[in-house]
Amino acid sequence: MRFAFYWLNLGFGGRLVALVLISLLVSCRPTAVPPTPATIVTMATSAVGTERTVLETQIATFAAQNPTIEVHLVDVPESSAERYYIYKSWLGRQDPTVDIFMLDLIWAPEFGANNWITPLDRYVTAANLDMRQFLPAMVQASTWNGQLVAMPWFADVGLLYYRQDLLNAYGFLPPRTWDDLVETAAIVTRSERFQNPVFTGLVYQSAPYEGVTVNYLEQVWSYGGDILDESGTRVVLNSPEAVLALEDFAALQQIAPPGIRYFAEEDALNYFASGNALFMRNWPYAWAVLNAAGSPLQGQIGLAPLPQGRSGVSVNTGALGGRQLAINRYSEQSEEAFALIAFLTSTEQQNYRAIHVGQNPTRLVSYQNTAVLQNNPHLSPLYDVIFKAHARPIHPAYAQISAIIQQQVGRTLRGEQDAPTSTANMAEAIQAIINQTQPTAEVNP
Ligand code: GLC
Repeated sequence: MRFAFYWLNLGFGGRLVALVLISLLVSCRPTAVPPTPATIVTMATSAVGTERTVLETQIATFAAQNPTIEVHLVDVPESSAERYYIYKSWLGRQDPTVDIFMLDLIWAPEFGANNWITPLDRYVTAANLDMRQFLPAMVQASTWNGQLVAMPWFADVGLLYYRQDLLNAYGFLPPRTWDDLVETAAIVTRSERFQNPVFTGLVYQSAPYEGVTVNYLEQVWSYGGDILDESGTRVVLNSPEAVLALEDFAALQQIAPPGIRYFAEEDALNYFASGNALFMRNWPYAWAVLNAAGSPLQGQIGLAPLPQGRSGVSVNTGALGGRQLAINRYSEQSEEAFALIAFLTSTEQQNYRAIHVGQNPTRLVSYQNTAVLQNNPHLSPLYDVIFKAHARPIHPAYAQISAIIQQQVGRTLRGEQDAPTSTANMAEAIQAIINQTQPTAEVNP
């Protein structure tokens, strides 16, 4: 009302001048360019040790270099089994929300065979990446049906951690065989218990998840046994070596804490890091945690290959583990997702991660980098162990195979079933699974 009153009072000339002024003002206003919204790339990740903070720093560097891409992290559970089922439920309903999955390397064949993840060869070629620059075993585990379905992110290998200070004090060398380990553990524990009643010989992973499968398989391999033959189609697990390995694996509970059947990686690490165990079986990430500033065990830890079994055969017993980065088949921004994956697997970022998390890089050249080697003094002496780590079966039904192992091994660990029965049951059930699924994926036309 008030505006109309002033407007009419301006008179014709005044209104004309005002109109010219208004139109001039409107035309001089800079044309508003709507800001380009950043593409959001969502990545599902878990975090042990210092992983999470290191990843956040890496993402901040990526964001500075790629202002049009915004990265969101989604936390997923630490346990491989829980993460596996969450991913499968998302993919089952073709959910595009999470663009990048951090895969445990044992899942790539199944995810590839089911077309849940995008083949990456096209992106790798476009980005001019040469996969021969990565650890061959990791590339092999990331390839399904001749296609690269995931990018190797870090490589794990099962290792033996020991208290160098205690072995020195008692005059022992790091054990070469499981028998040596048990003997040394018994002697040191007996004496240490006078000061620390919860002191124990060994911590490892034997909760019913992928961890117990890995720990059990390492035992089987160290005794000269295996699950499948070279062809990957015939189960050879029902052997005297595997029976003995399971019996001895169950006996390890006698030199472990009472709750060992509930221990995963972080439980073992916490127990060991508190000074309560002489030996620990764990992955390389534990090194950085144990040697971090403020760790009571800083500088007192040694690392060795896992012990040999009774076969006397010198085999590489540490399991190959690790993670890859894969793109959700239903992702709506796979180009941007690959840009992040290429960044995280670049030499510079692989070195950064190796220095700060202590996980083994997947780039071969990183094993010659001075800063990486200085921060991970175990890398040079354990080079062979890492490069010859023992792979678990690369098979699309691996999760089912592992579930059988967890169930049957669990029965023997609880004293409910003897080792020969569990071993025979496993062999039979695994053979049935292999017979049903063709490893060369006709599933993936
Ligand atoms: C580590 C390894 C992975 C393995 C898992 C078992 O995360 O990288 O390959 O399956 O431990 O707990």
